[in-house]
Amino acid sequence: MARPTELPTMESGGNKHHAERAAPGSERLHESATEVFPGGVSHNIRYHEPHPLYVESASGATIRDVDGNEYVDYWMNHQTSVLGHAYPTVVEAVQEQAADGLHYGTPNETGLAFARKILEAFPAAERLRFTSSGTEATMYAVRLARATTGKDHILKAEGGWHGGSSDLSSAVHSPFDRRTTAGLPPGVEEHVHAFPINDEAAVEDLFEQYDVGGVIVEPMLLAGGGVECEADFLTFLREETRRRDAQLIFDEVVTGFRVSPGSYQARVGIEPDLTTFGKVAGGGLPIGGLAGRADLFERAKPNANVPPEQAILAGGGTFTMNPMTATAGLATLEVLESEPVYEHTESWGERVRSRLAEIFEERGVDARVLGTSSLFCPHFEPEAPLTDVKAVETATNRSALVEFHDRLIDRGHYHLPGHMGSVSYQTTEAQLEDLLESSEEVIQELQAEGVL
Ligand SMILES: Cc1ncc(COP(=O)(O)O)c(C=O)c1O
Repeated sequence: MARPTELPTMESGGNKHHAERAAPGSERLHESATEVFPGGVSHNIRYHEPHPLYVESASGATIRDVDGNEYVDYWMNHQTSVLGHAYPTVVEAVQEQAADGLHYGTPNETGLAFARKILEAFPAAERLRFTSSGTEATMYAVRLARATTGKDHILKAEGGWHGGSSDLSSAVHSPFDRRTTAGLPPGVEEHVHAFPINDEAAVEDLFEQYDVGGVIVEPMLLAGGGVECEADFLTFLREETRRRDAQLIFDEVVTGFRVSPGSYQARVGIEPDLTTFGKVAGGGLPIGGLAGRADLFERAKPNANVPPEQAILAGGGTFTMNPMTATAGLATLEVLESEPVYEHTESWGERVRSRLAEIFEERGVDARVLGTSSLFCPHFEPEAPLTDVKAVETATNRSALVEFHDRLIDRGHYHLPGHMGSVSYQTTEAQLEDLLESSEEVIQELQAEGVL
């Protein structure tokens, strides 16, 4: 079948199947929400047809919508809740903290202990600053890279999503030279240049053309459908940034505390200059931060003895280092340390990836399953090896993926249509088997209808 070159949008990503979904309460709330939020949502990614589901509770591996439908959740709060929802020790700790105050807007011991724990995970990092989101973390990381090198140009991966800051809003979707948002200040895009991952020559070319102060990259591109940087490519970036006096920033907002205790950088044995983290680290509450060598943060100190124009504003914000997030984060890291979370989620993630691949093979469906650790996402009818985001976005059957997810939702397995799924520590074997069985059924249906 013909492949759309566009990602599904509100207008184009529809399908016939959702008419069957029994979620009148969500539908009503969404209609009401269109009078409040642009398009009825406060975050565009959460929109899907025919309307988003309104969730009223979540526990373990499941979420329940306002219509009483229960789903096994594979979206897991934007791939944040690696322990699953409402993990008992996390909930208990947060409840206790709430009784002592939600936020003080002052330093506090819990936040300090949390920061120490995070630094322990990144041996190359000696200092960190908290933010309230991954977006702010990457924004400050890029600023720090420019300020500490005195060079204005930043390299990012094509298809890399680092949040919505003006600096990093280019080259998010293919075609990468097309704007993803209006309203950027003049000159911003001229100072950010994108390379296809795993393409050393392209990076070298950009280094030759521009005075590059930093390279920011996700080791595995979540919004890019799960394509991964090869270890050799990451090593190349490490060596090249060192040789050319630029900062290497690993954006581990997704992979941080998910793939191993030391995150992705430990897996490949590479020490970046700066690491950004978020999601999993906050135990389900708002979090972000940047960590790196002490010397990089010298001019970020409040008492740095430098003229104001040389001081660097890096990190911070009203809600940073709030004791609620620190408590949820500490309780989560404690579970990650004391329970076999990585082994469990990794082996079950692998089981989903390999069993899906087997189902596709047995049924003669041309598909590839990407993802690492607990993460997984199938891509249908790839026309090229899926080694970069352009191939995922333009040379796969994106509408079949949306349709596949949509029909899984109807069978009680929640995915954000078109996006990666993940297994949590509380996902049970029976739930996974059920997902695989439903996946096979959906594939049969899509084949019978000629979608695949
Ligand atoms: C790799 C990466 N970096 C940064 C961000 C931005 O984080 P936040 O949504 O917390 O602002 C995201 C969000 O999905 C992400 O995937």
